[in-house]
Amino acid sequence: MPGAEVAARAAAIRAVPMGCAAQRSVPVGSYNPGVEPLTPSDLRVFYDALPAEMVARFGPIDPDRHAMHRALIDPDAPEAPASPAVLNRLAAVQVPEGARVLDAGCGWGGLLLRLARLRAATGVGITLSVLQAETANAHAAAHALPVRFLAGDYLTAELGEARFDAVTCIETLIHCADKPAALARVAARLRPGGRLLLVDDMADPALQPGNPDGERFRSGWLCPSVPTAAQWRDAMVGAGLRLVHEQDLTPLYRPRPGELRTRLTLEADAALARLPPGPARAVVQGERGGLALEALYAAGLMHYRMMLATLQS
Ligand SMILES: C[S@@+](CC[C@H](N)C(=O)[O-])C[C@H]1O[C@@H](n2cnc3c(N)ncnc32)[C@H](O)[C@@H]1O
Repeated sequence: MPGAEVAARAAAIRAVPMGCAAQRSVPVGSYNPGVEPLTPSDLRVFYDALPAEMVARFGPIDPDRHAMHRALIDPDAPEAPASPAVLNRLAAVQVPEGARVLDAGCGWGGLLLRLARLRAATGVGITLSVLQAETANAHAAAHALPVRFLAGDYLTAELGEARFDAVTCIETLIHCADKPAALARVAARLRPGGRLLLVDDMADPALQPGNPDGERFRSGWLCPSVPTAAQWRDAMVGAGLRLVHEQDLTPLYRPRPGELRTRLTLEADAALARLPPGPARAVVQGERGGLALEALYAAGLMHYRMMLATLQS
C-alpha cells in the first residue's frame, strides 16, 4: 500500500474514539488501587514515544529481531542471551497452520510476520503506533507476505464481518481499564472454535494495593489494573472462551541484577523530577515502570504467563 494511503487509513482509524480507555466500568484485578492514570492521549503519547525512542536507540527496526515484549531465555539454549524472538517462537506454535490471524496490539509486527512466513498465516495486526504499522507494512511488502498492519484501536477498529481463526494479544490487554469487556471484545472477532492467545504480566495474589513497585509499574506502563491469572481465567469464561493450555513463562525471564536496577532507578527518578509532560517523560516513565516491574519479578510478586483458549461454539 502506498505511504499516503497508509497515512490516510491510519488517520481515519485514529479518529475513532479509544474503546480501551472509554470502557471505565468496574476493572478486574486484585491489584487495582482505584487510581485511573489512563487517558486516551496518555496511551497514544506513550505508544508514539516508545517506538520513536526505539528507532533513535537501535536504528532501523527489524521486526524479526526487535519487539516490545519481554526478552526470554530460550528453553532449548539456556546459555544463550535472552531474546525477544523466543516469545514469538513460543507463541507461533500455538497458532494453527494457515490461520487467519488478528494480532491485537501487534507492536512492530514480528509475530504476525513470522506466522505468515513460517505457518502460512494471513491477517491483520493493529497497533496504536503509526510508526509501528508503517514499519511492519514495509516489511510485509518487502517479503511479499499476505498480512497488513493498521494504526488504530483494536477494540473499535472496523474490520468487516470476517472472523479470525486466531487472535493474539501479547502484552497489550493490560492497558485496558475493563479487562473482561476488552477480552470479550477481542474474542468476538473469533470464529467459533477459534483460538485466543494471551501473554501478559499477571499479579501474584500477594501483591497488595499500595505496594510502591506495583504503583510505579502501573502508572509508568499505564495499566489501570493488573489481574491475577485466576482473574484472567474468570474473564475468559465470561467471554465464552475455554482455556485449553496455560504456561508459566516466568522461569524464562531474568530481571537485571539489583545493583544495576538501583542505579538506573535513581537516574530515572532524577530525570522525572525535571521532565515536563510529553514524549520524553513518557519514555522515562515507561523505563521507570519497567524497573518497578523487574523488582516485582525479583520479589516473586508478578508472573509472566501464556494462556490459550478457544471460543465455544
Ligand atoms: C507492549 S507492546 C507489545 C507489542 C507486541 N504485541 C509485541 O509482542 O511486541 C503493546 C502494543 O499494544 C498496542 N496497543 C495497546 N493498546 C491498544 C489498543 N487499544 N489498540 C491497538 N493497539 C494497542 C501498542 O500500540 C503496542 O504496539
